[in-house]
Amino acid sequence: MKTPACIAALGAALVLAACGGGSDSESTPTPAQGGGGGTADGAQVFTQNCANCHTLAAAGSKGQVGPNLDDLRPGPDLVKTQTENGGGAMPSFKGKLSDAEIQAVADYVSENAGKS
Ligand code: HEC
Repeated sequence: MKTPACIAALGAALVLAACGGGSDSESTPTPAQGGGGGTADGAQVFTQNCANCHTLAAAGSKGQVGPNLDDLRPGPDLVKTQTENGGGAMPSFKGKLSDAEIQAVADYVSENAGKS
């Protein structure tokens, strides 16, 4: 039997709970992949945003526009500040990357620079 209310609610997330049949009412929602949620993958952020300009052996990148991060070995605070504000020929990533992504890439670079 079809319920008109369920059809009317199509498109809303609630439709899953409202019309799902009730067998899995306790299921937790799965976070969208790479959706800029609470956690971020620093390696992925680096590859997608920084690798073109920076060399970092751990990420397999050989960019030549900015300084070689394996040589520079910046601490997390420097990476964070530079990524948020930009500087020299480097663009600011504030507004493009979430705070979580900036933090993740800062940790990733500071932990991996000069290590491989
Ligand atoms: C368009 C090229 C470009 C991109 C993309 C880029 N950078 Fe840079 N980056 C530079 C340049 C050029 C400099 C040198 C800036 C200067 O001379 O002050 C630099 C400097 C840096 C420094 C050193 C800052 C200092 O004070 O010594 C860090 C750390 C850094 N970038 C990290 C990153 C990270 C992390 C990303 C990705 C989120 C990124 N960069 C993306 C070009 C880029």
